[in-house]
Amino acid sequence: MKKKIKIAVVGIGLMGSQHLKAVNLSKKAKLHSIVDLNKKSEVHAKKFKVPFYSSSKHLLKNNKPDAVIVATPNQFHEKHTISFLNAKIPVLLEKPISDNIKKAEKIIKSSKKNKTHLLIGYHRRHNSIVTSVKQKIDSGKFGKIVAGNVMCWLYKNKDWYKEKWRIKKGGGPLGINLVHDIDLICYLLGPVQSVQSATSNLIRKYEVEDTAVVNFIFKSGALCTLSVSDTIVGPWSYELTAGENPAYPVTNQSAYYIGGTKGSIQFPNLKHWYNKGERSWWKPMYHKDMNIRLSRFTLINQINHLCDVVKGKAKPKVTGEDGLQSLKIFDAIIKSSKSGKKISIK
Ligand SMILES: NC(=O)c1ccc[n+]([C@@H]2O[C@H](COP(=O)([O-])OP(=O)(O)OC[C@H]3O[C@@H](n4cnc5c(N)ncnc54)[C@H](O)[C@@H]3O)[C@@H](O)[C@H]2O)c1
Repeated sequence: MKKKIKIAVVGIGLMGSQHLKAVNLSKKAKLHSIVDLNKKSEVHAKKFKVPFYSSSKHLLKNNKPDAVIVATPNQFHEKHTISFLNAKIPVLLEKPISDNIKKAEKIIKSSKKNKTHLLIGYHRRHNSIVTSVKQKIDSGKFGKIVAGNVMCWLYKNKDWYKEKWRIKKGGGPLGINLVHDIDLICYLLGPVQSVQSATSNLIRKYEVEDTAVVNFIFKSGALCTLSVSDTIVGPWSYELTAGENPAYPVTNQSAYYIGGTKGSIQFPNLKHWYNKGERSWWKPMYHKDMNIRLSRFTLINQINHLCDVVKGKAKPKVTGEDGLQSLKIFDAIIKSSKSGKKISIK
């Protein structure tokens, strides 16, 4: 039998508990141990019959894993991740890479200095639909990409806002939801040159935004609008269309619309739109439902990918640099929403 990669999970909250399930379901991985400063999380260690540690230090002093998943709150990402990288243990770090750019740069530096892999948990990239759309865009099937439209429209009920941090700055749909779309559209369309944005709290009137629109100019010259709201009852978001998380009922709709000089694509409900023969708005439009074998268990795919990276069979799909770039764009979106100005991404 092939050797399974032993993975420790650090921080067993909302996301860490999802990772525990994914590691358990992966054929390539085996749960090594659980780390959480909250004693309550020991129940998970008992359930999975693995050791429980109250800190990363205790784990490192004892039995070292082959890799770790860090799913602690963003402000602790730097401390935890660097301690594992210094011990030459590859890390899958939850998104965002950190809560500030300087800390993110330190994490990347540590990965380089220790020659130890760092992967960022933008798990949508491990969905086969996304891989296939990327290949088709890069192959020129849709011609030169001109524009994109990304929607993230959701309605969060009152219970969601019982957690006080979610009504303060940083706890809104830009940071919780749109960050995934930022990573994904950059993966698909390449680096962003500049950003302009506007936010509103028209409906909920909390300190944090409930709605935002963002315009990207890509280095390729393509333009894209992203809109996010958690006060709209509507079916158009990746969350409600991709079927990655059983917690969300799936609608048969799309959230991404990407257009080029030869055709357009919408997904996750995959359709390729085109003219037959002459391209013209006077000619009929046809669409082809694209036949792609789905593998929507992106968290398990992500764990399998981590195992392949540890074994030297793959390179990280989402690197620390990707995580830093998304963080810089997010930072620029917040700045632009305050000043109204267009902000360049360096
Ligand atoms: N990929 C996704 O779709 C997704 C979704 C939700 C959250 N996240 C990310 O996952 C991370 C965790 O978010 P969450 O919502 O699960 O948070 P959470 O508050 O539900 O859980 C955090 C856990 O970390 C533990 N913890 C806190 N400080 C610790 C420390 N110093 N050492 C060990 N354990 C510690 C807490 O006790 C808690 O169990 C964040 O980075 C968040 O952005 C990602």
